Amino acid sequence: MCNTDRCCALFWPCILILACVVLFGQIFFPEYHSRDPNFEVDSVTINPFDMSNNSSSHKTTTTTHCNITFFVQNRNKKSFPLYFKDIKASIFYKKENISSIEIRPFFQLNPKENILVNANFVVSSEDMDSSVANSIVQDWKSGVVGFNVVVRGTVKIDPWTDVEENYLISVSCEEIKVGFSSNVTTGSMSGGSRKCHVVLLNPFHEVDMR
Ligand SMILES: *[C@@H]1O[C@H](CO)[C@@H](O)[C@H](O)[C@H]1NC(C)=O
Ligand SMILES: *[C@@H]1O[C@H](CO)[C@@H](O)[C@H](O)[C@H]1NC(C)=O
Ligand SMILES: *[C@@H]1O[C@H](CO)[C@@H](O)[C@H](O)[C@H]1NC(C)=O
Ligand SMILES: *[C@@H]1O[C@H](CO)[C@@H](O)[C@H](O)[C@H]1NC(C)=O
Ligand SMILES: *[C@@H]1O[C@H](CO)[C@@H](O)[C@H](O)[C@H]1NC(C)=O
Repeated sequence: MCNTDRCCALFWPCILILACVVLFGQIFFPEYHSRDPNFEVDSVTINPFDMSNNSSSHKTTTTTHCNITFFVQNRNKKSFPLYFKDIKASIFYKKENISSIEIRPFFQLNPKENILVNANFVVSSEDMDSSVANSIVQDWKSGVVGFNVVVRGTVKIDPWTDVEENYLISVSCEEIKVGFSSNVTTGSMSGGSRKCHVVLLNPFHEVDMR
């Protein structure tokens, strides 16, 4: 690489200066911009569907419990605690929002930390069009019910410090499939955990003036 004396004389000093600049940056400006958290659907269970006839209205009401466990991981290497709040999870069946639930706020203090977060939904045909309810029951009888899950809320990065940043978080977990081996068994998600798509938006870039 050294084909002239002048180049040779400059090569090592240049490398040294570059190394110093990189080292300085690492020490005084650690990875400032944090990375999006990782969301996965870890497991899903759905109770057998309960169909009850209302003798006075002659209507059949179908209800079930759907319990979803999310795996949430703080992907930051350095210490950027995350605080998740106002979190709402919703189940979408073919673009129809059929059930929704609030999730208690939670923290992730340590880099690389991961936690499991539960969401227990009640799904009732009372909350949807009868055609949608019928379609879900048909799927259940055929052995597989498929749906998408959307999680929305707020995530605070480095809360309670003067560099706190607030983001809106939008998570979408698509094509979750739950298999039922018979109409009396509890269904569970097939095919292992499912990665979700995460988007962070910073619509209100708050500057903390403390
Ligand atoms: C889901 O959770 C609810 C409430 O904790 C419980 O009643 C239901 O049996 C659970 N269902 C499954 C499939 O674990
Ligand atoms: C509900 O009523 C319909 C007819 O009215 C009947 O076919 C069905 O078996 C009943 N279902 C239950 C769970 O009682
Ligand atoms: C049956 O239907 C009637 C009329 O819609 C309603 O008032 C009643 O609460 C229902 N009963 C049950 C057990 O769902
Ligand atoms: C789904 O519907 C519920 C109840 O109407 C609502 O609170 C929730 O925000 C909706 N979810 C989405 C992602 O629109
Ligand atoms: C469950 O399936 C069995 C056999 O397929 C059937 O005889 C039974 O009526 C079904 N039960 C319900 C509640 O649909």
